Amino acid sequence: MKAFLATLSLTLLAATPAIAESMDKGDARIGKTLHDKSCIACHASKFGEDGSMMYSRADRKVTSKQQLTARVKACNNNVGAGWFPEEEAHVAAYLNATYYHLK
Ligand code: HEC
Repeated sequence: MKAFLATLSLTLLAATPAIAESMDKGDARIGKTLHDKSCIACHASKFGEDGSMMYSRADRKVTSKQQLTARVKACNNNVGAGWFPEEEAHVAAYLNATYYHLK
């Protein structure tokens, strides 16, 4: 039981940073291309211009890397962009480098 708990807590410790790490390994330049193709039109129809107000508005929803990763994944699934996890990481890296600047 003790060994099981130790393994479990190690697994949990390892799991949390891995989410943010995948974004850190993303390539923002690839992410921009993917994002501009699949994501701008709808955000722009709401906010005008290039839709980037979605990410820079005062009451934006995303406040952590985990949330940004989760949001990109959810939007990818919603719009059926069909991105692989590496591609989600590229897009999250692009959004973070350009708009969110989350640590
Ligand atoms: C069909 C319309 C639509 C499409 C397409 C779309 N989004 Fe969104 N997105 C929204 C709406 C609406 C919100 C705001 C939801 C809210 O205010 O809670 C949003 C919010 C977001 C946010 C959070 C902004 C914040 O408040 O910090 C992110 C990140 C995001 N979208 C990423 C993406 C990505 C990446 C794609 C491309 C795969 C995408 N979206 C495609 C409609 C869309």
